[in-house]
Amino acid sequence: MDDRDLIRQTLRTVPDWPEPGVQFRDITPLLQNPRVFRVLIDQFVHRYFDARPDAIAGIDARGFILGAVLAYELNIGFVPIRKKGKLPFDTVEESYALEYGEATVELHTDAVKPGDRVVLVDDLIATGGTMLAGKKLLERLGATVIEGAAIVDLPELGGSTRLRAEGLALHTLVS
Ligand code: PRP
Ligand code: HPA
Repeated sequence: MDDRDLIRQTLRTVPDWPEPGVQFRDITPLLQNPRVFRVLIDQFVHRYFDARPDAIAGIDARGFILGAVLAYELNIGFVPIRKKGKLPFDTVEESYALEYGEATVELHTDAVKPGDRVVLVDDLIATGGTMLAGKKLLERLGATVIEGAAIVDLPELGGSTRLRAEGLALHTLVS
């Protein structure tokens, strides 16, 4: 079995969570199995080793798990993009539409420097709103997002198409 098949088969689908009709793609089995966790992280390490990014930006909350380990392995810094109200220092913020209502994410103003080349990491792309907000925050501080990386793309929700149309290259492992 190749690595992507292993990841696909280990991912858990929980029907009707958090509400009826949603098929929730749960990454926790990938983290729980040490062999699969290593395969998963190595996929991203190999992807970005030669590109030598300046930093990994991870999105609250599941993007922290992947992004922090990836940054450690690449020997570069990790910066968190957090839901509003959690970061203590000066921040830039970006709001985006959810199915019902709005969400806001924040980034410390000193998290990246102008000209930094950053990989933006999350577990999953659904509508793409979260990752697009992360891209905008990094770009407002003058950084370049070289790629958005996620384990799972849900293409039927249109996020990956929208993100690519906004000029963000993507690398995902399972659709
Ligand atoms: C989920 C997921 C992504 C985002 C994807 O996080 O981890 O961050 O939604 O959705 P989108 O592409 O439609 O923006 P969630 O907001 O549920 O937060 P959590 O990680 O704290 O559970
Ligand atoms: N899994 C995890 N996060 C999500 C999902 C999902 O299926 N859909 C939207 N955010």
